Amino acid sequence: MAVAICPGTFDPITRGHVDIITRASSIFDTVIVAILVNHGKRQMFSTEERLEMLRVACAHLPNVEIDHFEGLLVDYVRKRGAHVVIRGLRAVSDFEFEMTMALMNRKLDPNIETMYIMASMEYSFLSSSIVKEVAALGGDIRCLVPAPIAERVAARCRGEA
Ligand code: PNS
Repeated sequence: MAVAICPGTFDPITRGHVDIITRASSIFDTVIVAILVNHGKRQMFSTEERLEMLRVACAHLPNVEIDHFEGLLVDYVRKRGAHVVIRGLRAVSDFEFEMTMALMNRKLDPNIETMYIMASMEYSFLSSSIVKEVAALGGDIRCLVPAPIAERVAARCRGEA
């Protein structure tokens, strides 16, 4: 069975993430979307909240599992019995960071392969950071993140949740 790990911060999950996860789920038997638990970095949403939002956003994809991990990605990939890491590429600007990460992960474990999926054109400008900035300034983010997520981000920005 071909299992792929789709790691990220997902703070919050965007429509661009869903696009990549959907494409991966049509190629692999199982796609495990894994949130990095990074205690050193302040996020808008806690790990539990991000897990819940991922579950909601991916509920229509039966072969997608939601999980979280701490520490090295390669250790987690091995623990889950996978050999493939999936990342999305939006534009050339992503390339340097992605190449560094893929080559470091290969150095740490040559048996793990990183594969890239091109994001749809309509999401090539989209990131969690820009979603948070637009939401914080009162902009409409419904076309940027799945509908239930838009509500939660807007509420967090208003200080309601
Ligand atoms: O959504 P992001 O923030 O671009 O995801 C980055 C992530 C979580 C995939 C990356 O930071 C990661 O895998 N971190 C785990 C720590 C690790 O394995 N570092 C060494 C390889 S760069």
